[in-house]
Amino acid sequence: MSAALRNDDPGAAIMARLDALAGFTDEPGRVTRLFLSPSHRRSVDWLLDWMREAGMAAFLDDVGNVRGRYEGATPGAPALLIGSHIDTVRDAGRYDGTLGVALGVAVVAELKRRGERLPFAIEVIGFGDEEGVRFPTTLAGSRAIAGGFDPTTLAACDPDGVSLDKALRDFGCDPARIGGLAMTRQAALAYVEAHIEQGPVLERNAAPLGVVTAINGATRFRGTLEGEAGHAGTVPMAIRRDALAGAAEIILGVEARAAREADLVATVGRIEAAPGAINVIPGAAHFTLDIRAPDDAQRRAAVADIEALCAATAKRRGLKLEMTRSHDAPAVVCDPRLVAALAESVAREGHAPLRLPSGAGHDAMAMAALCPSAMLFVRCKGGISHNPAESITAADAGAAFAALIDFVRHFDPERFIDEA
Ligand code: GLV
Ligand code: MN
Ligand code: MN
Repeated sequence: MSAALRNDDPGAAIMARLDALAGFTDEPGRVTRLFLSPSHRRSVDWLLDWMREAGMAAFLDDVGNVRGRYEGATPGAPALLIGSHIDTVRDAGRYDGTLGVALGVAVVAELKRRGERLPFAIEVIGFGDEEGVRFPTTLAGSRAIAGGFDPTTLAACDPDGVSLDKALRDFGCDPARIGGLAMTRQAALAYVEAHIEQGPVLERNAAPLGVVTAINGATRFRGTLEGEAGHAGTVPMAIRRDALAGAAEIILGVEARAAREADLVATVGRIEAAPGAINVIPGAAHFTLDIRAPDDAQRRAAVADIEALCAATAKRRGLKLEMTRSHDAPAVVCDPRLVAALAESVAREGHAPLRLPSGAGHDAMAMAALCPSAMLFVRCKGGISHNPAESITAADAGAAFAALIDFVRHFDPERFIDEA
């Protein structure tokens, strides 16, 4: 039986959709779906088809988001936005981002199946760029909808030298129109995102679902150290300017600084040495840096210390350092009314509504600048994410679906209309 017909088991139907989506990948044998890549294109077409089948008017917008709208009882009414992202990290799992998009479409499909129209519209969004893996432009899609897209990022290039501007055009988008994608507060009642937890808290509490109270702030850098390449056999240790050894010292310094404080985390997730040969002293090292904390003052202090330690290490080793800040997002507190409403829905579905903060970043961070925003977390096995071993159960996907349907049915647009 096709996934679309399995109304008896919505969790299993959602899992089947997610398995299909995992088939769109840039790397055979792994799930890697980078922003504006060929596999992103195929997933866009697949999602547009599913949204239309679910009763939505759907289109690809000019920043690469997939948008589907299910009208309420009165066409043109303000919308409850439900979304997450369809881009992935490299060698990803199959649920990060995609689960929230699939749940949104499944909820609308269920409303359509029952012939229900609500006193508000629902817009489901599959954001194109949440991970920030290909370009240094994390949250480009949600920022555009929330009116916070920075047009200077169009000049940013991927590691192959392709600019975001060119990649968008090649994808069929018009970057000149991105400014016009910003929704008004009048049109957007609220934003709700379901997502796998990506941590172990729900599993440890035997809770399938959780309601997010706040999302950690994050700062990201791309760094380059330049030293001097040379012969690995002839240049004495004392006069080397080894860029990779400098980067290694920085990595350990970053780790030690973050370890000093609870809740603060810092990661060098990517490093490359150039020219990159067994018998050549590395003349350059390129690295990424990602620093997060629930408290903005705590994060800013850590960022300042880490910038200082990078500069001091480079100076002492005779290296030239360049650091570019590619992302800076404050911590976001979820809307208390939405948190309460989601908790009530979780409880009505028979689960303890555990409340927890999010260490991972999400499109909800950007959307919170537009309208009241909140998140529903779904338990994942071992808390593992950004890893092909990412795993959830069909039963938990079904629980999230039931809680979201309940939330949507109880959502009172009057409480969220034009309160700004
Ligand atoms: C997104 O997954 C992030 O938190 O980096
Ligand atoms: Mn995600
Ligand atoms: Mn992710």
